[in-house]
Amino acid sequence: MMKRRDFLHASTLGVAGGLLATLPAPTAGAPQASSGARAFPPVRPSPGHEPDWEAVRDAFAIDRSWSHMAGLFLASHPEPVARQIADARRRLDENPTHEVLDNWGEDRTTRAAIAEYIGAETAEVALTGSTTMSLAVAIHGLRMSPGAEILHTTHDHSVANRAIQFKAEHAGASVRRISLYDDDHPEEANRDEVLERLGRELRPETRLFMATWVHSKNGVKLPIAAMSAVIAEANARRDEDDQITFVVDGVHGFGIEDQAIPELGCDFFCAGTHKWVFAPRGTGMLWGHPRAHDRVTPVIPSIGGGGGWGGTMSPGGFHAFEHRWAIAPAFHFHLEIGKAAVQARIHALNAQLKEGLAAMEHVRLYTPRSMELSSALTCFDVDGHTPRETVDHLRDEHRIIASTTPYSPSYARLTPGLLNDEEEIERALAAIRSMK
Ligand SMILES: Cc1ncc(COP(=O)(O)O)c(C=O)c1O
Repeated sequence: MMKRRDFLHASTLGVAGGLLATLPAPTAGAPQASSGARAFPPVRPSPGHEPDWEAVRDAFAIDRSWSHMAGLFLASHPEPVARQIADARRRLDENPTHEVLDNWGEDRTTRAAIAEYIGAETAEVALTGSTTMSLAVAIHGLRMSPGAEILHTTHDHSVANRAIQFKAEHAGASVRRISLYDDDHPEEANRDEVLERLGRELRPETRLFMATWVHSKNGVKLPIAAMSAVIAEANARRDEDDQITFVVDGVHGFGIEDQAIPELGCDFFCAGTHKWVFAPRGTGMLWGHPRAHDRVTPVIPSIGGGGGWGGTMSPGGFHAFEHRWAIAPAFHFHLEIGKAAVQARIHALNAQLKEGLAAMEHVRLYTPRSMELSSALTCFDVDGHTPRETVDHLRDEHRIIASTTPYSPSYARLTPGLLNDEEEIERALAAIRSMK
Protein backbone atom coordinates (compact mmCIF):
# COMPACT_ATOMS: atom_id res chain seq x y z
CA MET A 1 0.00 0.00 0.00
CA MET A 2 1.24 3.45 -0.85
CA LYS A 3 2.24 5.29 2.30
CA ARG A 4 0.83 8.72 2.94
CA ARG A 5 4.34 10.11 2.74
CA ASP A 6 4.69 8.67 -0.76
CA PHE A 7 1.44 10.08 -2.01
CA LEU A 8 2.32 13.52 -0.67
CA HIS A 9 5.60 13.37 -2.54
CA ALA A 10 3.76 12.15 -5.60
CA SER A 11 1.71 15.33 -5.50
CA THR A 12 4.78 17.25 -6.67
CA LEU A 13 4.07 15.69 -10.05
CA GLY A 14 1.62 18.52 -10.24
CA VAL A 15 -0.54 18.98 -13.25
CA ALA A 16 1.43 16.55 -15.34
CA GLY A 17 0.23 13.86 -12.99
CA GLY A 18 -3.28 15.34 -12.91
CA LEU A 19 -5.41 15.62 -9.84
CA LEU A 20 -5.17 11.90 -9.24
CA ALA A 21 -1.57 12.50 -8.23
CA THR A 22 -2.84 14.40 -5.21
CA LEU A 23 -5.30 11.78 -4.02
CA PRO A 24 -4.72 10.30 -0.58
CA ALA A 25 -3.42 6.78 -0.18
CA PRO A 26 -6.18 4.18 -0.27
CA THR A 27 -7.14 3.41 3.29
CA ALA A 28 -10.18 1.92 4.93
CA GLY A 29 -12.89 4.52 5.26
CA ALA A 30 -11.17 7.20 3.20
CA PRO A 31 -13.95 8.86 1.18
CA GLN A 32 -13.74 8.09 -2.56
CA ALA A 33 -10.00 7.63 -2.41
CA SER A 34 -10.13 3.85 -2.19
CA SER A 35 -11.75 3.58 -5.63
CA GLY A 36 -9.08 5.84 -7.10
CA ALA A 37 -11.88 7.55 -9.08
CA ARG A 38 -12.54 11.25 -9.34
CA ALA A 39 -15.41 12.38 -7.17
CA PHE A 40 -16.42 15.10 -9.67
CA PRO A 41 -16.29 15.36 -13.47
CA PRO A 42 -12.99 16.40 -15.07
CA VAL A 43 -12.64 20.18 -15.20
CA ARG A 44 -11.16 19.87 -18.68
CA PRO A 45 -12.79 17.13 -20.74
CA SER A 46 -9.51 16.63 -22.61
CA PRO A 47 -6.37 18.61 -23.33
CA GLY A 48 -6.97 21.50 -25.68
CA HIS A 49 -10.68 21.70 -24.81
CA GLU A 50 -12.28 24.63 -23.01
CA PRO A 51 -12.61 23.93 -19.30
CA ASP A 52 -16.01 22.63 -18.25
CA TRP A 53 -17.04 25.56 -16.05
CA GLU A 54 -20.02 23.67 -14.68
CA ALA A 55 -17.67 20.88 -13.56
CA VAL A 56 -15.44 23.48 -11.92
CA ARG A 57 -18.43 24.82 -9.96
CA ASP A 58 -19.55 21.29 -9.12
CA ALA A 59 -16.22 20.70 -7.40
CA PHE A 60 -17.41 22.98 -4.57
CA ALA A 61 -19.90 22.11 -1.84
CA ILE A 62 -21.08 25.72 -2.00
CA ASP A 63 -24.82 26.39 -1.45
CA ARG A 64 -26.00 27.09 -4.98
CA SER A 65 -29.26 28.64 -3.82
CA TRP A 66 -27.14 31.80 -3.36
CA SER A 67 -25.05 33.75 -5.88
CA HIS A 68 -21.69 34.00 -4.17
CA MET A 69 -20.09 37.28 -5.22
CA ALA A 70 -18.06 38.14 -2.15
CA GLY A 71 -15.43 35.54 -2.98
CA LEU A 72 -12.63 37.78 -1.87
CA PHE A 73 -13.29 36.94 1.78
CA LEU A 74 -12.68 33.28 2.35
CA ALA A 75 -12.56 30.20 0.13
CA SER A 76 -14.93 27.30 -0.12
CA HIS A 77 -12.72 24.22 -0.52
CA PRO A 78 -12.99 22.38 -3.84
CA GLU A 79 -13.39 18.62 -3.64
CA PRO A 80 -9.70 17.56 -3.90
CA VAL A 81 -8.81 20.00 -1.11
CA ALA A 82 -11.74 19.02 1.10
CA ARG A 83 -10.97 15.34 0.60
CA GLN A 84 -7.32 15.70 1.49
CA ILE A 85 -8.20 17.71 4.60
CA ALA A 86 -10.69 15.04 5.70
CA ASP A 87 -8.19 12.27 5.12
CA ALA A 88 -5.36 14.01 6.96
CA ARG A 89 -7.65 14.96 9.85
CA ARG A 90 -8.72 11.36 10.32
CA ARG A 91 -5.11 10.17 10.24
CA LEU A 92 -4.02 12.87 12.69
CA ASP A 93 -6.86 11.95 15.03
CA GLU A 94 -5.84 8.30 14.83
CA ASN A 95 -2.15 8.87 15.48
CA PRO A 96 -0.99 12.49 15.72
CA THR A 97 2.60 11.72 16.69
CA HIS A 98 3.32 9.29 13.88
CA GLU A 99 1.53 11.43 11.31
CA VAL A 100 3.49 14.54 12.19
CA LEU A 101 6.82 12.77 12.34
CA ASP A 102 6.11 10.76 9.21
CA ASN A 103 5.26 13.91 7.23
CA TRP A 104 7.87 16.25 8.64
CA GLY A 105 9.16 17.09 5.16
CA GLU A 106 5.80 17.94 3.67
CA ASP A 107 6.20 21.70 3.89
CA ARG A 108 8.81 21.37 1.17
CA THR A 109 6.38 19.48 -1.06
CA THR A 110 3.80 22.18 -0.51
CA ARG A 111 6.28 24.93 -1.24
CA ALA A 112 7.28 23.10 -4.43
CA ALA A 113 3.63 23.06 -5.56
CA ILE A 114 3.33 26.81 -4.99
CA ALA A 115 6.67 27.40 -6.73
CA GLU A 116 5.45 25.43 -9.75
CA TYR A 117 2.29 27.55 -9.91
CA ILE A 118 4.07 30.91 -9.56
CA GLY A 119 7.05 30.02 -11.78
CA ALA A 120 9.70 30.31 -9.06
CA GLU A 121 12.10 28.11 -7.09
CA THR A 122 10.95 26.18 -4.03
CA ALA A 123 13.66 27.87 -1.92
CA GLU A 124 12.04 31.27 -2.64
CA VAL A 125 8.64 30.34 -1.19
CA ALA A 126 7.64 30.52 2.50
CA LEU A 127 4.40 29.22 4.00
CA THR A 128 2.35 31.52 6.20
CA GLY A 129 -1.19 31.57 7.56
CA SER A 130 -2.63 34.56 5.68
CA THR A 131 -1.86 37.70 3.71
CA THR A 132 -1.63 39.50 7.04
CA MET A 133 1.06 37.13 8.28
CA SER A 134 3.01 37.31 5.01
CA LEU A 135 3.02 41.12 5.16
CA ALA A 136 4.09 41.09 8.80
CA VAL A 137 6.91 38.60 8.15
CA ALA A 138 8.26 40.56 5.17
CA ILE A 139 7.81 44.08 6.55
CA HIS A 140 8.78 43.46 10.14
CA GLY A 141 11.71 41.25 9.13
CA LEU A 142 13.27 43.92 6.93
CA ARG A 143 16.55 45.30 8.22
CA MET A 144 16.07 49.05 8.64
CA SER A 145 18.13 51.82 10.26
CA PRO A 146 16.62 54.74 12.21
CA GLY A 147 15.83 57.63 9.90
CA ALA A 148 14.71 55.38 7.07
CA GLU A 149 11.43 56.16 5.35
CA ILE A 150 8.64 53.71 4.60
CA LEU A 151 6.58 54.81 1.62
CA HIS A 152 3.22 53.26 0.85
CA THR A 153 -0.14 54.19 -0.57
CA THR A 154 -3.55 55.42 0.44
CA HIS A 155 -5.01 52.37 -1.33
CA ASP A 156 -3.69 49.65 1.01
CA HIS A 157 -5.65 47.42 3.38
CA SER A 158 -5.76 48.22 7.09
CA VAL A 159 -3.56 45.20 7.93
CA ALA A 160 -0.83 46.57 5.65
CA ASN A 161 -1.20 50.02 7.21
CA ARG A 162 -0.78 48.55 10.66
CA ALA A 163 2.11 46.25 9.76
CA ILE A 164 3.90 49.37 8.49
CA GLN A 165 3.00 51.38 11.58
CA PHE A 166 4.37 48.61 13.87
CA LYS A 167 7.57 48.40 11.84
CA ALA A 168 8.07 52.17 11.87
CA GLU A 169 7.63 52.31 15.65
CA HIS A 170 10.08 49.45 16.11
CA ALA A 171 12.72 50.71 13.69
CA GLY A 172 12.45 54.45 14.31
CA ALA A 173 11.42 54.96 10.69
CA SER A 174 9.05 57.56 9.27
CA VAL A 175 5.99 56.72 7.18
CA ARG A 176 4.58 58.58 4.19
CA ARG A 177 1.42 57.64 2.30
CA ILE A 178 0.87 58.65 -1.27
CA SER A 179 -1.95 58.34 -3.74
CA LEU A 180 -1.01 56.81 -7.09
CA TYR A 181 -4.18 58.10 -8.78
CA ASP A 182 -7.07 60.39 -7.92
CA ASP A 183 -8.75 58.63 -4.98
CA ASP A 184 -12.07 60.32 -5.84
CA HIS A 185 -11.97 58.95 -9.39
CA PRO A 186 -10.35 55.50 -9.23
CA GLU A 187 -12.22 54.56 -12.44
CA GLU A 188 -9.90 57.00 -14.23
CA ALA A 189 -6.66 55.54 -12.85
CA ASN A 190 -4.08 55.16 -15.56
CA ARG A 191 -0.72 53.53 -15.86
CA ASP A 192 1.32 56.60 -16.85
CA GLU A 193 0.00 58.62 -13.95
CA VAL A 194 0.74 55.80 -11.48
CA LEU A 195 4.33 55.50 -12.71
CA GLU A 196 4.87 59.25 -12.79
CA ARG A 197 3.57 59.72 -9.23
CA LEU A 198 5.67 56.82 -7.93
CA GLY A 199 8.88 58.05 -9.54
CA ARG A 200 8.27 61.56 -8.21
CA GLU A 201 7.68 60.39 -4.63
CA LEU A 202 10.78 58.22 -4.05
CA ARG A 203 13.21 60.03 -1.74
CA PRO A 204 16.86 59.36 -0.85
CA GLU A 205 15.77 58.04 2.57
CA THR A 206 13.06 55.72 1.19
CA ARG A 207 14.01 52.14 2.03
CA LEU A 208 10.70 50.30 1.76
CA PHE A 209 7.92 50.83 -0.74
CA MET A 210 4.75 48.84 -0.20
CA ALA A 211 1.78 48.66 -2.57
CA THR A 212 -1.27 46.51 -3.21
CA TRP A 213 -1.72 44.70 -6.53
CA VAL A 214 -5.53 44.74 -6.71
CA HIS A 215 -7.28 47.16 -4.36
CA SER A 216 -10.16 45.79 -2.33
CA LYS A 217 -11.09 49.45 -1.87
CA ASN A 218 -12.13 50.10 -5.49
CA GLY A 219 -10.94 47.23 -7.71
CA VAL A 220 -7.97 49.08 -9.27
CA LYS A 221 -5.15 46.75 -10.36
CA LEU A 222 -1.74 48.42 -10.31
CA PRO A 223 0.87 47.86 -13.05
CA ILE A 224 3.27 46.19 -10.62
CA ALA A 225 5.88 45.12 -13.20
CA ALA A 226 6.19 48.67 -14.55
CA MET A 227 6.33 50.03 -10.99
CA SER A 228 9.16 47.58 -10.22
CA ALA A 229 11.01 48.99 -13.21
CA VAL A 230 10.72 52.53 -11.76
CA ILE A 231 12.14 51.29 -8.46
CA ALA A 232 14.89 49.29 -10.20
CA GLU A 233 15.93 52.47 -12.02
CA ALA A 234 16.21 54.34 -8.71
CA ASN A 235 18.05 51.42 -7.12
CA ALA A 236 20.58 51.32 -9.95
CA ARG A 237 21.87 54.70 -8.68
CA ARG A 238 22.03 53.53 -5.03
CA ASP A 239 24.49 51.56 -2.90
CA GLU A 240 23.53 48.10 -1.68
CA ASP A 241 22.63 49.39 1.81
CA ASP A 242 20.35 52.08 0.40
CA GLN A 243 18.25 49.88 -1.88
CA ILE A 244 14.49 50.37 -1.88
CA THR A 245 12.74 47.09 -1.12
CA PHE A 246 9.39 46.68 -2.90
CA VAL A 247 6.78 44.64 -0.97
CA VAL A 248 3.49 43.77 -2.69
CA ASP A 249 0.20 42.72 -1.12
CA GLY A 250 -0.88 40.50 -3.98
CA VAL A 251 -3.82 38.63 -2.52
CA HIS A 252 -6.55 39.81 -4.89
CA GLY A 253 -4.62 39.03 -8.05
CA PHE A 254 -3.34 35.66 -6.83
CA GLY A 255 -5.45 32.80 -8.22
CA ILE A 256 -6.92 35.12 -10.88
CA GLU A 257 -4.17 36.69 -12.97
CA ASP A 258 -2.13 34.51 -15.33
CA GLN A 259 1.09 35.92 -13.99
CA ALA A 260 4.50 34.41 -13.15
CA ILE A 261 5.20 36.14 -9.86
CA PRO A 262 8.98 36.69 -10.39
CA GLU A 263 8.08 38.61 -13.57
CA LEU A 264 6.33 41.21 -11.42
CA GLY A 265 9.84 42.31 -10.49
CA CYS A 266 9.07 43.13 -6.85
CA ASP A 267 11.20 41.93 -3.93
CA PHE A 268 8.51 40.29 -1.80
CA PHE A 269 5.06 39.09 -2.80
CA CYS A 270 2.53 38.41 -0.02
CA ALA A 271 -0.76 36.56 -0.45
CA GLY A 272 -3.25 34.49 1.43
CA THR A 273 -4.00 31.27 -0.43
CA HIS A 274 -7.40 30.94 1.24
CA LYS A 275 -9.25 33.37 -1.02
CA TRP A 276 -9.02 33.08 -4.83
CA VAL A 277 -6.70 30.05 -4.83
CA PHE A 278 -9.24 28.00 -2.79
CA ALA A 279 -6.50 26.47 -0.64
CA PRO A 280 -7.41 25.59 2.96
CA ARG A 281 -8.60 28.37 5.20
CA GLY A 282 -5.77 29.71 7.34
CA THR A 283 -3.03 29.38 4.70
CA GLY A 284 -0.85 31.86 2.83
CA MET A 285 2.46 32.31 1.09
CA LEU A 286 5.39 34.71 0.82
CA TRP A 287 7.67 34.79 -2.20
CA GLY A 288 11.04 36.52 -1.97
CA HIS A 289 13.32 37.50 -4.84
CA PRO A 290 16.81 36.01 -4.18
CA ARG A 291 18.41 39.48 -4.43
CA ALA A 292 16.40 40.54 -1.35
CA HIS A 293 16.63 37.41 0.82
CA ASP A 294 19.46 38.81 2.95
CA ARG A 295 17.51 41.98 3.61
CA VAL A 296 15.12 40.20 5.98
CA THR A 297 15.52 38.18 9.14
CA PRO A 298 12.82 35.83 10.46
CA VAL A 299 10.47 37.30 13.06
CA ILE A 300 8.98 33.97 14.12
CA PRO A 301 11.19 30.85 14.35
CA SER A 302 10.41 28.15 11.80
CA ILE A 303 9.77 24.51 12.66
CA GLY A 304 10.29 22.00 9.89
CA GLY A 305 9.72 24.43 7.04
CA GLY A 306 11.63 22.33 4.53
CA GLY A 307 14.93 24.20 4.29
CA GLY A 308 16.23 27.10 2.20
CA TRP A 309 15.28 30.75 2.60
CA GLY A 310 11.58 29.98 2.39
CA GLY A 311 11.87 27.31 5.07
CA THR A 312 13.61 29.67 7.46
CA MET A 313 11.05 32.40 6.81
CA SER A 314 8.02 30.13 7.33
CA PRO A 315 6.62 30.92 10.79
CA GLY A 316 6.79 27.80 12.91
CA GLY A 317 5.00 26.25 15.82
CA PHE A 318 2.78 23.27 15.07
CA HIS A 319 0.02 24.08 12.64
CA ALA A 320 -3.41 22.81 11.61
CA PHE A 321 -1.52 20.19 9.57
CA GLU A 322 -4.63 18.81 7.90
CA HIS A 323 -5.01 22.24 6.27
CA ARG A 324 -1.33 22.78 5.60
CA TRP A 325 -1.01 19.41 3.85
CA ALA A 326 -3.96 20.20 1.58
CA ILE A 327 -2.56 23.38 0.01
CA ALA A 328 -0.95 21.62 -2.97
CA PRO A 329 -4.21 20.17 -4.38
CA ALA A 330 -5.64 23.70 -4.64
CA PHE A 331 -2.73 24.80 -6.84
CA HIS A 332 -3.03 21.60 -8.89
CA PHE A 333 -6.74 22.30 -9.33
CA HIS A 334 -5.89 25.70 -10.84
CA LEU A 335 -3.20 24.24 -13.06
CA GLU A 336 -5.53 21.55 -14.31
CA ILE A 337 -8.07 24.20 -15.35
CA GLY A 338 -5.18 26.31 -16.72
CA LYS A 339 -4.02 29.71 -15.47
CA ALA A 340 -4.82 31.44 -18.78
CA ALA A 341 -8.33 29.96 -18.81
CA VAL A 342 -8.95 31.01 -15.18
CA GLN A 343 -7.93 34.58 -15.94
CA ALA A 344 -9.94 34.75 -19.17
CA ARG A 345 -13.05 33.41 -17.44
CA ILE A 346 -12.88 35.75 -14.45
CA HIS A 347 -12.03 38.77 -16.59
CA ALA A 348 -14.94 38.00 -18.94
CA LEU A 349 -17.44 37.77 -16.07
CA ASN A 350 -16.21 41.06 -14.57
CA ALA A 351 -16.22 42.77 -17.97
CA GLN A 352 -19.83 41.63 -18.46
CA LEU A 353 -20.75 43.03 -15.05
CA LYS A 354 -18.96 46.35 -15.60
CA GLU A 355 -20.45 46.87 -19.04
CA GLY A 356 -23.92 46.32 -17.63
CA LEU A 357 -23.34 48.65 -14.66
CA ALA A 358 -21.78 51.35 -16.82
CA ALA A 359 -24.93 51.43 -18.95
CA MET A 360 -27.13 52.28 -15.94
CA GLU A 361 -27.64 55.97 -15.28
CA HIS A 362 -28.41 55.41 -11.59
CA VAL A 363 -25.12 53.56 -10.99
CA ARG A 364 -21.65 54.97 -10.52
CA LEU A 365 -18.82 52.55 -11.30
CA TYR A 366 -15.55 53.06 -9.40
CA THR A 367 -13.51 50.24 -10.95
CA PRO A 368 -11.71 50.93 -14.24
CA ARG A 369 -13.41 49.30 -17.25
CA SER A 370 -10.05 48.17 -18.66
CA MET A 371 -8.98 44.69 -17.55
CA GLU A 372 -5.39 46.01 -17.68
CA LEU A 373 -6.26 48.04 -14.61
CA SER A 374 -8.76 45.75 -12.89
CA SER A 375 -9.31 42.12 -12.03
CA ALA A 376 -12.14 40.40 -10.13
CA LEU A 377 -13.38 43.17 -7.83
CA THR A 378 -16.09 45.47 -9.16
CA CYS A 379 -17.07 48.44 -6.97
CA PHE A 380 -20.06 50.72 -7.51
CA ASP A 381 -22.77 52.84 -5.90
CA VAL A 382 -26.49 52.97 -6.64
CA ASP A 383 -28.09 56.46 -6.55
CA GLY A 384 -30.22 56.98 -3.48
CA HIS A 385 -28.89 53.93 -1.64
CA THR A 386 -26.00 53.53 0.78
CA PRO A 387 -23.60 50.68 -0.04
CA ARG A 388 -25.04 48.79 2.95
CA GLU A 389 -28.60 49.20 1.61
CA THR A 390 -27.50 47.94 -1.80
CA VAL A 391 -25.80 44.88 -0.31
CA ASP A 392 -28.79 44.17 1.96
CA HIS A 393 -31.19 44.52 -0.96
CA LEU A 394 -29.20 42.10 -3.13
CA ARG A 395 -29.05 39.60 -0.26
CA ASP A 396 -32.64 39.88 1.00
CA GLU A 397 -34.49 40.27 -2.30
CA HIS A 398 -32.29 38.37 -4.75
CA ARG A 399 -30.12 35.91 -2.77
CA ILE A 400 -26.97 37.57 -4.13
CA ILE A 401 -24.06 37.84 -1.69
CA ALA A 402 -22.17 41.09 -2.20
CA SER A 403 -20.05 43.10 0.24
CA THR A 404 -19.34 46.67 1.23
CA THR A 405 -15.73 47.83 1.04
CA PRO A 406 -14.17 48.31 4.51
CA TYR A 407 -12.69 51.69 3.58
CA SER A 408 -13.77 55.31 3.67
CA PRO A 409 -15.66 56.08 1.52
CA SER A 410 -17.27 52.67 1.33
CA TYR A 411 -18.72 51.23 -1.91
CA ALA A 412 -20.85 48.24 -2.83
CA ARG A 413 -18.74 45.43 -4.30
CA LEU A 414 -19.34 42.31 -6.39
CA THR A 415 -16.55 39.83 -7.12
CA PRO A 416 -17.48 37.44 -9.94
CA GLY A 417 -15.17 34.42 -10.04
CA LEU A 418 -15.06 30.70 -10.75
CA LEU A 419 -18.11 30.10 -8.56
CA ASN A 420 -20.28 32.19 -10.90
CA ASP A 421 -21.56 32.11 -14.48
CA GLU A 422 -22.93 34.54 -17.07
CA GLU A 423 -26.52 33.96 -16.04
CA GLU A 424 -25.75 34.99 -12.46
CA ILE A 425 -24.13 38.18 -13.72
CA GLU A 426 -27.28 38.98 -15.71
CA ARG A 427 -29.41 38.34 -12.62
CA ALA A 428 -27.21 40.68 -10.55
CA LEU A 429 -27.51 43.35 -13.25
CA ALA A 430 -31.29 42.96 -13.36
CA ALA A 431 -31.44 43.27 -9.57
CA ILE A 432 -29.40 46.48 -9.61
CA ARG A 433 -31.39 47.83 -12.55
CA SER A 434 -34.58 47.35 -10.54
CA MET A 435 -33.23 49.60 -7.77
CA LYS A 436 -33.68 52.72 -9.87
C1 LIG B 1 -5.99 43.90 0.05
C2 LIG B 1 -6.10 42.99 1.23
N1 LIG B 1 -4.97 42.65 1.89
C3 LIG B 1 -5.01 41.83 2.95
C4 LIG B 1 -6.19 41.28 3.40
C5 LIG B 1 -6.15 40.34 4.57
O1 LIG B 1 -6.10 39.03 4.05
P1 LIG B 1 -5.90 37.77 5.00
O2 LIG B 1 -7.25 37.45 5.55
O3 LIG B 1 -5.41 36.68 4.08
O4 LIG B 1 -4.92 38.14 6.04
C6 LIG B 1 -7.38 41.60 2.75
C7 LIG B 1 -8.67 41.02 3.17
O5 LIG B 1 -9.51 40.64 2.38
C8 LIG B 1 -7.34 42.49 1.64
O6 LIG B 1 -8.46 42.85 0.99
